[in-house]
Amino acid sequence: MQLTIHHLTQQFGKVRVLDNLSLETGSVGSLVLVGPSGGGKSTLLRILAGLDVPTSGTIEIDNAGLPRDENGLRAYRRTVGTVFQSYNLFPHLSARENLILPLVHVHGLTREAALEQIREPLERFQLAAHADKRPAELSGGQNQRIAILRAMVVRPTRLFLDEPTSALDPEMTAEVLDMIEALKGTGTDFVLVTHAMTDPFGGPGCR
Ligand SMILES: Nc1ncnc2c1ncn2[C@@H]1O[C@H](COP(=O)(O)OP(=O)(O)OP(=O)(O)O)[C@@H](O)[C@H]1O
Ligand SMILES: [Mg+2]
Repeated sequence: MQLTIHHLTQQFGKVRVLDNLSLETGSVGSLVLVGPSGGGKSTLLRILAGLDVPTSGTIEIDNAGLPRDENGLRAYRRTVGTVFQSYNLFPHLSARENLILPLVHVHGLTREAALEQIREPLERFQLAAHADKRPAELSGGQNQRIAILRAMVVRPTRLFLDEPTSALDPEMTAEVLDMIEALKGTGTDFVLVTHAMTDPFGGPGCR
C-alpha cells in the first residue's frame, strides 16, 4: 500500500482538528501512526476508512483518490475493515452471529456459506469454544479478537485499527497483537493508530 495525503484539513465547527496535513509513504504492508491523545488520530483514521469526509485536502491510496460522494464511499467501505478501541460488537448476538453478520448482510453470502467461512479462523485463533457466547461473556481480549476477525473474514484490502489494545491489560494486549501479527501477509494491509510509543508491529514505524 502506498499512501499520499495532501493538505488535509478537518474542521468541526470552529475547531480545526487536522490542519493542512501532508504525508507520503513508500510502499508499506503495515503503517503505524503515533500521536498524543486528542491529536486527531481517530479523526484521520475515520477519513482513511471512508467513514468521514474531510473539510479539504486529498488522499490517494495506491494512486486511487478516496471517494467523497456517498455512493463511492459506500463501495469503498465494502473493501476495507475497521476496528475500534471499544470492539463495537452487537451485545445481544453471540460471537458467531457477530462474525457472520457482515458476510450475510453486506456481502450477500448464505448463512451456511458464512458459517463455513468463519469455521477455520475461529479454530485458528482459539475462539471456537467461545463462539456461542455473547460479548458480555467474553474477556476484553476475546472480544477484540472477535472484532478483528469480523473485519478480516470479508478479506478486506486494508484493515484500519484505532488503538485496538488501549482498553486491554498487558496479557490481553499480547493476545491481540499476536493475532494481528499472524494475520499479516494474508494480502491485507494494516493501518494502526496509537498513542503508545511502543511499535505494536515490533520494529520501526512503517514497512
Ligand atoms: N465530531 C466531532 N465534533 C467536534 N469535535 C470533534 C469531533 N471529533 C473529534 N473532535 C475533536 O477533535 C480532537 C481530536 O479528536 P480525535 O478523537 O481524533 O483524537 P485522538 O488523537 O484520536 O485522541 P485519543 O488518543 O484520545 O483517542 C479532539 O479535541 C476532539 O474533541
Ligand atoms: Mg482516538
